[in-house]
Amino acid sequence: MKFIDLFSGIGGFRQGFEKIGFECVFSCEVNSKCREVYQKNFGEVPFADISNINPADLAEFDILVAGFPCQPFSICGKKLGFEDTRGTLFFEICKIIKIKQPKVIVLENVKHLIHHDKGNTLKVIIASLEDLGYSVNYKMLNAKDFGIPQHRERIFIIATKGKPFNFSRLTTQLTPQLREFLDETGDFEILDKSEYTLIESPRKQDSGLLFVGYRNKGTWKTGVRPNTEHLSRVHRQPNRIYSVEGVHPTIPSQETSGRFFIYIPEQDMVRKLTLKECYRLMGFPENFKSYPSAGESYKQIGNSVCVPVVEAIAKEILSQNLLSNESNEPPRKIEEYIQLVRLNC
Ligand SMILES: C[S@@+](CC[C@H](N)C(=O)[O-])C[C@H]1O[C@@H](n2cnc3c(N)ncnc32)[C@H](O)[C@@H]1O
Repeated sequence: MKFIDLFSGIGGFRQGFEKIGFECVFSCEVNSKCREVYQKNFGEVPFADISNINPADLAEFDILVAGFPCQPFSICGKKLGFEDTRGTLFFEICKIIKIKQPKVIVLENVKHLIHHDKGNTLKVIIASLEDLGYSVNYKMLNAKDFGIPQHRERIFIIATKGKPFNFSRLTTQLTPQLREFLDETGDFEILDKSEYTLIESPRKQDSGLLFVGYRNKGTWKTGVRPNTEHLSRVHRQPNRIYSVEGVHPTIPSQETSGRFFIYIPEQDMVRKLTLKECYRLMGFPENFKSYPSAGESYKQIGNSVCVPVVEAIAKEILSQNLLSNESNEPPRKIEEYIQLVRLNC
């Protein structure tokens, strides 16, 4: 029941795995500000640069978790395998896997990984893990299916030593409305009515987002077809206003000012989501200690992983008995697994 937390950021993975009873025996994060927050919350300073780890020095562990930055591989016709990942951060993960052979590996990345370098990046990642002796499976998971009112799609790649991880057994939950996660009182940044426009007859999108208006600054003026001025695509992302009767868009990592404004119909009020609410929308505990500067904290939480999604995965690793040596069959190639799923075995 031991895991290591690589590219740990501020510890989203650790929150989820510890909740299920796993013990973290090593963490690694190069950013000093993230390390500071990690230390405040978990009482340990992560190791800095992953490329300086000697895998042989690591304590024994069962699970390796990592939300790593995605970089292209140059494979140039070589055989697809982990040697092709040299010079990338993923190669550093593979080096540890090769020596330590954990029973389960959980990797998280942005949705775009699927299309990154025309699908090549994902292909190399899967082939490398198979090359190291693992069965690999992956799925796009959305935070809104795990009891959080945020539309946040992330790819999760899970590698196991025997039978593959079965994503269809993950426990999902109904999507709550954003309003259930908000504070009723606080020092809110409220927009004056002159600063925004509400659209007529807003409609909830399939994603659960309810676009209701936009801030008056920065709307696109060129190339907008007549009678489409009200559509959300016309309004720059940061200026779109979503209703609390739907879900919140993905909390981004590039923004240092917490860019989204929300509309509360019963108060006819538009205000900015607070930092505390952002942490809540990522499933972090109320007593989580953030970085002293708000700008840095907005960036850190946007870069993190949604805790209830991780928690559901950790629970399923146990319930699918993926840590027991006896249950382990020889690893299967992903094509074989897809075939089995098709045959419903
Ligand atoms: C997508 S974030 C992961 C966030 C994390 N899952 C969390 O819950 O906060 C990727 C992290 O990798 C870290 N990183 C990048 N290069 C690294 C390296 N060479 N060694 C260790 N960490 C690194 C970044 O600083 C960043 O915090």
